[in-house]
Amino acid sequence: MSPRRPGAERWVPPRAGIDRLREAAETCEGCELFEDATQTVFGEGPDDARLLCVGEQPGDDEDRSGRPFTGPSGRLLFKAFDQAGIDRSTTYVTNAVKHFKFAQLQTGGRRIHKKPAAGEVAACRPWLLSELNAVRPELVIALGATAAHSLLGREFRVSSQRGVIHDLAADWLDEPTRIMATVHPSAVLRLRDPEREEAFAQFIIDLRKAAEVLTG
Ligand code: URA
Ligand code: SF4
Repeated sequence: MSPRRPGAERWVPPRAGIDRLREAAETCEGCELFEDATQTVFGEGPDDARLLCVGEQPGDDEDRSGRPFTGPSGRLLFKAFDQAGIDRSTTYVTNAVKHFKFAQLQTGGRRIHKKPAAGEVAACRPWLLSELNAVRPELVIALGATAAHSLLGREFRVSSQRGVIHDLAADWLDEPTRIMATVHPSAVLRLRDPEREEAFAQFIIDLRKAAEVLTG
């Protein structure tokens, strides 16, 4: 994070509901990522959702649509939700970082996803915490390392702790909740069969554990 950009904190209205937060996030300049992206992609879903699902950052599709998980990762995620028995309509979906970070290829002008830096994740974290405190979900799912590191710390390892339900209580959280980390859907999409099929099956196994918490 550049010293000029102090993070999202000063843009986040205190104790606001989701609609006000979303509107305020449109003008966030808490890190450099707003400069090249099309728009802020805030979270979406019912403000009393029982499950809150956190990805990494918007991709190319989401940057254009302005909504989270409207591209290939979202299609895989919602297919997995269906198979795991998670009701998408009662789930709030969002990202650790609200602007698309990319590199522009010289040839063809294609925009290639770039992983957000730790400083950008930290800069955007106040938005994620504001969503958690507005929605107060019973369970949080962190999809991949970026989301897991934002909420559970940089020491957390998705590979060894995926599918495990942890209690989450912290001074930045108004109400304690629970959290489970698993892989990001893009990690499944990157593979080819038969590895992809196996990774998808493993992803469903993790999501079923989340579904059990919600039905239990
Ligand atoms: N990947 C994410 O992490 N989030 C999205 O919204 C889309 C793709
Ligand atoms: Fe603000 Fe987050 Fe966008 Fe950075 S990525 S400008 S902190 S909304």
